[in-house]
Amino acid sequence: MEKLIPLVNQLQDLVFNTIGSDFLDLPSIVVVGSQSCGKSSVLENIVGKDFLPRGTGIVTRRPLILQLINLKEEESNSDVNHEDPQQDSSNTDGTTASLENRSDQEGYAEFLHLPNVRFTDFGKVRAEIENETLRVAGANKGINKLPINLKIYSKHVLNLTLIDLPGLTKIPVGDQPTDIESQTRSLIMEYIGKPNSIILAVSPANFDIVNSEGLKLARLVDPKGKRTIGVLTKLDLMDQGTNAMDILSGRVYPLKLGFIPTVNRSQSDIISHKSLRDALLSENDFFANHPAYRAIVNRCGTFYLAKTLSNLLIAHIRDRLPDIKARLSTLISQTQSQLENYGIFKVSDKAQRGIILLQAMNRFANSFIASIDGNSSNIPT
Ligand code: GDP
Ligand code: NA
Ligand code: MG
Repeated sequence: MEKLIPLVNQLQDLVFNTIGSDFLDLPSIVVVGSQSCGKSSVLENIVGKDFLPRGTGIVTRRPLILQLINLKEEESNSDVNHEDPQQDSSNTDGTTASLENRSDQEGYAEFLHLPNVRFTDFGKVRAEIENETLRVAGANKGINKLPINLKIYSKHVLNLTLIDLPGLTKIPVGDQPTDIESQTRSLIMEYIGKPNSIILAVSPANFDIVNSEGLKLARLVDPKGKRTIGVLTKLDLMDQGTNAMDILSGRVYPLKLGFIPTVNRSQSDIISHKSLRDALLSENDFFANHPAYRAIVNRCGTFYLAKTLSNLLIAHIRDRLPDIKARLSTLISQTQSQLENYGIFKVSDKAQRGIILLQAMNRFANSFIASIDGNSSNIPT
């Protein structure tokens, strides 16, 4: 069942590379919240790598589609992974293991816009995100709708697709366009408005939850709180003697998927280069030793968040699979009739390859649905 996420990842790339439309409306998790509420910190904690651009003001200026791929699973799945299996041989060569190989074992990254370039230095991943942002969105702090697609392969991540969006800004800075807020708002609405998206609304615990920009936006598209999951950050910055138990219990702001509390690195932790590993250990210490949270420590922190999101996404994809399949069939026949209209020689090789791949993907989805139907029919009703 966990292979569903890699399958949807492949579909996402395929549609992006060929048709370039989001007609399939594939399930994903969209991260929203105000600027500096801790979105990037939460994402880096989940990935376990420092790879996102940092700074004050608006840093994320294009959507980032982040596909996390668990290496163990990916390697054992020959149906899904058609990549060069070279990494296996480099890993076994223990005696001559270079630094390069060692970091390879700890994961690597690839951008869709740079096919066949494998990044093992995550500092360079950050630089590439910055370059790509600059290239398309310009230097004037404006935003651009064209997403950056990044895959991270690691033994330490769960299969997960997360979309990072620009944070809401109230006041334009520098030579930012005056309508930056409405631009950002409509970009966010476009992503969270899709019925197939799960909204990860990030709110800092040291501010009144009623004023959370992320939750306000989520409520507009998901008024009953059915597909919104709340993440609280900065629990360590709450006033002495106060805690977030009211929010976590769902009494203050009801969400069907609930709230998960996290503690990420502070600005001074980042300045002093505290490692993510240490940050995750201190996060765990914080909850395990806290008078209020220690009773619910199993439902606190980054690891629980990642596990919950992965399970949620799998369940969601499973629910939506018949619908995805129907859309896929429509997309295939539309593309086919376009090919016929334009004449086979006028369309690009890319489009022709695309349709062949889509057909293969359709067969693949069919066999998945068949196996799910097979499984569920075994369950007595
Ligand atoms: P973003 O703009 O929403 O992506 O926010 P960032 O992740 O860049 O975080 C903004 C600032 O808040 C940074 O200085 C972080 O170090 C800090 N921060 C984020 N989460 C926490 C947290 O849980 N505790 C503390 N003390 N600081 C945090
Ligand atoms: Na917020
Ligand atoms: Mg950010």
